Amino acid sequence: MSVYSEVKTITTHVLKAMKLSGEKISMLTAYDYSMAKIVDSAKIDVILVGDSASNVMAGYKTTLPITLNEMIYHAASVVRAVNRALVVVDLPFGSYQGNSKEALSSAIRIMKETGANAIKMEGGIEIVESIKRILSAGIPVMGHLGLTPQSIHKFGTYTVRAKEIEEAEKLMTDADALQEAGCFAIVLEKVPANLAGKVAEKLKIPVIGIGAGAQVDGQVLVLHDMLGITHEFSPRFLRRYHNLYTEIKGAVETYIQDVKTLDFPNEREQY
Ligand code: KIV
Repeated sequence: MSVYSEVKTITTHVLKAMKLSGEKISMLTAYDYSMAKIVDSAKIDVILVGDSASNVMAGYKTTLPITLNEMIYHAASVVRAVNRALVVVDLPFGSYQGNSKEALSSAIRIMKETGANAIKMEGGIEIVESIKRILSAGIPVMGHLGLTPQSIHKFGTYTVRAKEIEEAEKLMTDADALQEAGCFAIVLEKVPANLAGKVAEKLKIPVIGIGAGAQVDGQVLVLHDMLGITHEFSPRFLRRYHNLYTEIKGAVETYIQDVKTLDFPNEREQY
């Protein structure tokens, strides 16, 4: 049973309180008004306008092509639907890696033009200067470590990260640095459950996992994956709560059939 379900507005402070009290944080992606409305009314804690929109909404193979303007379009649509959840928006590839001034101006555009509550950035120590600059403008930042899809061409594959001791130690150091810099939470993607558990235990800020096991402070999934709208992608960590691909396709096939056979519209469906 959720102690926080009656909270009217989820803030970064509520998330920290949830970690302290041991209540797990629920987070899902959304990229448009209609889906965000459903997800928010179900009382999700955090909605992430992820740059996974690049794959899910635009059909690109990676998250790299999506632009800042496109992220702003998605985020503004989501914010118009949301009453309760904390809305976090990904800074897309190329909008913050150049320098901290560029990072700040991208973050400001997101906050000003969408009304979102926070931004998320991928990376560790190398982006700390940008994180501090963004925070100094009063913009909350969520970190993202482990598998960071914007660096896919450096990694070469989407397999589990930080299995080796050296990378695990670097991840621990990066997580400390992000907390020290002032991030209010961190996403850990596709890392061994034990390592993720150690990070969550060490940090005071919430650690939200995707493919990072159960010992973290919350979970995030891509909405279209957990609803089964996407169906070619089946990593081990993904639990599908529905098979909407088949259901939607079935509904469309029935509609086509009804149109062709003159079953639709019937007497009651016309003026
Ligand atoms: O873009 C995204 O959807 C994400 C989640 C996978 C955490 O970053």
